[in-house]
Amino acid sequence: MLDTPDRAALVALLDFYVESGVDLALDETPRDRFADNESAEPDELGRSAALPLRRAPTAVAPPARHAQSLPAFPEDANRAAREGARDAASLAELEALLARFEGCGLKVTAKNLVFADGNPHGRLMFVGEAPGGDEDRIGKPFVGRSGQLLDRMLAAIGLGRNDVYIANVVPWRPPGNRTPTPQEIAVCKPFIERQIELADPDILVCLGGPATQTLLNTKDGILKTRGRWFPYRTGAREIRAFATLHPAYLLRQPLQKRLAWRDFRALKRALQTPS
Ligand code: URA
Repeated sequence: MLDTPDRAALVALLDFYVESGVDLALDETPRDRFADNESAEPDELGRSAALPLRRAPTAVAPPARHAQSLPAFPEDANRAAREGARDAASLAELEALLARFEGCGLKVTAKNLVFADGNPHGRLMFVGEAPGGDEDRIGKPFVGRSGQLLDRMLAAIGLGRNDVYIANVVPWRPPGNRTPTPQEIAVCKPFIERQIELADPDILVCLGGPATQTLLNTKDGILKTRGRWFPYRTGAREIRAFATLHPAYLLRQPLQKRLAWRDFRALKRALQTPS
């Protein structure tokens, strides 16, 4: 057993690794893969025989409807996402398609696809930004501290998880919980748009700035957009969309919960009016 100062230093180091997105041990000892690569014999064309350090990007893995046309460039991945998402005829098909999709690099570091939770027939659909560590481990959105706060906010207006449907703009955890890049958001956008269309809620609720900006096509910050209604066109019809503060922000800024409470009361009133 290590004495206390060493143990505290090790725990701090491990925390640092986890914060930086290093949350998987691959080996007992460190290994210099750059050195491995340099020492390998080159082939006749002068290419190293060692494993490449990075996987070449592709778009959709095993043989599937779109697998053959799967491309190495972001614009091709975006096209594969748009075409694949459009063809998914049900939420189950969409989830299966996402599970095969390889056009988003986040999948490489994520443990699980985080597709949805709750009731796909609910009148309210909540969309957050991207899964965190707890969500990645369990494979469901909003199960960590933010999710527990979301559950309490729902309970305050008489709703539970089984009354609403919950998803994220990006269904894989960004390493270290960093913000997804514009390219990661762009490649995932057709999937969440199709997910909304297939779930067909009466009211779409965007949780936080990134979800609001992505789905409601605005550049305004969340403190400007929260509490406001927007028209949202699914492929099939126009529904009401609403922006509110992200529970993770409320955990950091508890005084802002009064604004969220105002927003949730507005949601409750909106549910009382037929769409
Ligand atoms: N934050 C999100 O935006 N989504 C989750 O699923 C969890 C935390």
